Amino acid sequence: MKNKSLVSIADYTKEEYLEILRVAAEFEKNPVQKILEGRVVATLFFEPSTRTRLSFESAVNRLGGRVIGFTDSSSSSVSKGETLKDTILTVSNYSDLIVMRHPLEGSARYASEVATVPVINAGDGANQHPTQCLLDLFSIQKTQGTLENLKISMVGDLKYGRTVHSLLMAMSYFNPTFNFIAPDELKMPEEYKLFLDKKGIVYHEFTELAENIKDSDIIYMTRVQRERFADPLEYEKVKNVYILKNKMLEGTKDNMKILHPLPRVNEISTDVDSNSKAYYFPQALNGVYTRQAIMAKILGLK
Ligand code: CP
Repeated sequence: MKNKSLVSIADYTKEEYLEILRVAAEFEKNPVQKILEGRVVATLFFEPSTRTRLSFESAVNRLGGRVIGFTDSSSSSVSKGETLKDTILTVSNYSDLIVMRHPLEGSARYASEVATVPVINAGDGANQHPTQCLLDLFSIQKTQGTLENLKISMVGDLKYGRTVHSLLMAMSYFNPTFNFIAPDELKMPEEYKLFLDKKGIVYHEFTELAENIKDSDIIYMTRVQRERFADPLEYEKVKNVYILKNKMLEGTKDNMKILHPLPRVNEISTDVDSNSKAYYFPQALNGVYTRQAIMAKILGLK
């Protein structure tokens, strides 16, 4: 993993995922370790973010490193017409590691090819969000005691949801069964179903929520992403398609946990927040430990 960019979850092996989870568990026990002293991490966010950017920055701070970057490309020379290539080449001079979120699919791969330091993809359009995926794996392993043989229900925007695409690929090493619960307009894309078919992994597709979550170990809720729709009317049609309510959790498995990469809009009713099966805020905390582990491994410090 040393000096290796993390662009897609497919860039890493199963053994590398497990190693990151092992190191993340170490950071959870002892999150303040000054191993990044003298190092600089650049966070380039061309799209809005709360959790990804701030958990990366929290992770760097707790490890004694420094953060540079921007949260809005309009405050950078991109607004003057500077290319992504020139931006990345320049920032490579100022940092040991670049964390980038960008709306264009493939932008992180391109950045990793031109950068002279490793690049971590913090989300590229509807494509991939590998660090979210690793924190999701950490959360699943922590709550279930295993990653093997779990039933995972993915709910909501499975078409544009980069977190479900990354998670599906990573979980494919651990013999899962999936329920894909989405309206017809937002179904899991064919390429991901083909990927599962080739690996012999079972999945079922549904459009109804309540009856199809009862036997799940994990319910992975997602937001319908307004920013990915070209036509606002299409968004209006599906924006409230699923709202998970406390009452729907009756009869679900005792071990079941509800995950959500957040932000939520209204797909999880706030009455679910106090249910012990709600895990989305601890999941966001796990992002700090997991991102500490990812940076430590890429910089060869663990
Ligand atoms: N989960 C996630 O990527 O959240 P942010 O968009 O707030 O970073």
